[in-house]
Amino acid sequence: MELPFDGAISAFFANDAPEPIRNAIRRADSGDILDPGYPHSERLPRKHYEKELEALQIELAKMQSWAKDSGARIAIVFEGRDAAGKGGTIKRFREYLNPRGARLVALSKPTETEATQWYFQRYIDHLPAGGDIVFYDRSWYNRGVVEKVFGFCSDSAREHFFDQTPDVERMLVDEGIHLVKFWLNVGRAEQLRRFLKREASPLKQWKLSRIDVEGLRLWDEYSAAIRETFARTHTDHAPWTIIRSDDKRRARIEALRHVLLQVDYAHKDLRAIGKPDPLVCGGPEIWD
Ligand code: ADP
Ligand code: AMP
Ligand code: MLT
Repeated sequence: MELPFDGAISAFFANDAPEPIRNAIRRADSGDILDPGYPHSERLPRKHYEKELEALQIELAKMQSWAKDSGARIAIVFEGRDAAGKGGTIKRFREYLNPRGARLVALSKPTETEATQWYFQRYIDHLPAGGDIVFYDRSWYNRGVVEKVFGFCSDSAREHFFDQTPDVERMLVDEGIHLVKFWLNVGRAEQLRRFLKREASPLKQWKLSRIDVEGLRLWDEYSAAIRETFARTHTDHAPWTIIRSDDKRRARIEALRHVLLQVDYAHKDLRAIGKPDPLVCGGPEIWD
């Protein structure tokens, strides 16, 4: 099979990656957490992970059943840099849910027609009906981050977006939709390690795109765009929840737990849900 981008990731690793990033990856064993600022030195042990995940997935099934009975609507936005683990986290949410009513929304770049619409329009189209849980794998926040970094929108379009977003989200919340906004935070070395893995795997290559390859050189531009996005869109009615995702297992557990704690569904078992880890799951203050 032809390699997409012709080994561009490994070439970047060999020639251009910052020395500390390269060294961290070279020295690491496959299970090591690379980010020196990560609050835990070891990944969550697999047994522990599987046990907690199952308990949380049972609660999630209860939540879905409650949503169907009550007509509740739940929208969960997953944002984060490339390879932050959005897809894998959404997969664990949906694993044991009835797919009818647990919908994935992963939109491509806007078509020519969509580009002439109100920016939020095509996302609004996919909002949950009664009983639905909708998972947005990327969202209207493209305009805050990737569109800024790659120059896909004008500065005035982005400014307009930041003006409108808190009001749009206010309407969703006033309407009674449960809205959760996750930012999955991955460190630079861990991101590069995941890209290298994707490049080497015929099962994962599809996840790589030109954006990922060109984005390798744009880490700091991303950071600035992310910081500004939080500053403009972290509101009381629609706050960001940051999940530190260098350890995928902890990230998935914390994301599920957070949603379960946000929603008041019937027969909620707080003991099964357990306590959040405030070092892994918190507000923009734990992002860096
Ligand atoms: P993903 O990480 O979602 O698999 P990419 O990394 O290729 O996909 O792209 C990141 C995001 O940037 C996607 O949501 C994609 O739709 C968006 N995007 C790519 N090209 C453009 C473009 N020309 N204009 C606007 N958005 C774009
Ligand atoms: P996955 O099931 O997609 O989480 O992949 C698990 C594999 O990823 C294991 O073989 C691990 O060796 C590897 N891995 C490396 N670093 C991490 C990490 N920080 N979190 C989870 N998995 C990791
Ligand atoms: C992820 O799994 O991190 C994303 O969903 C895919 C990506 O953007 O690389």
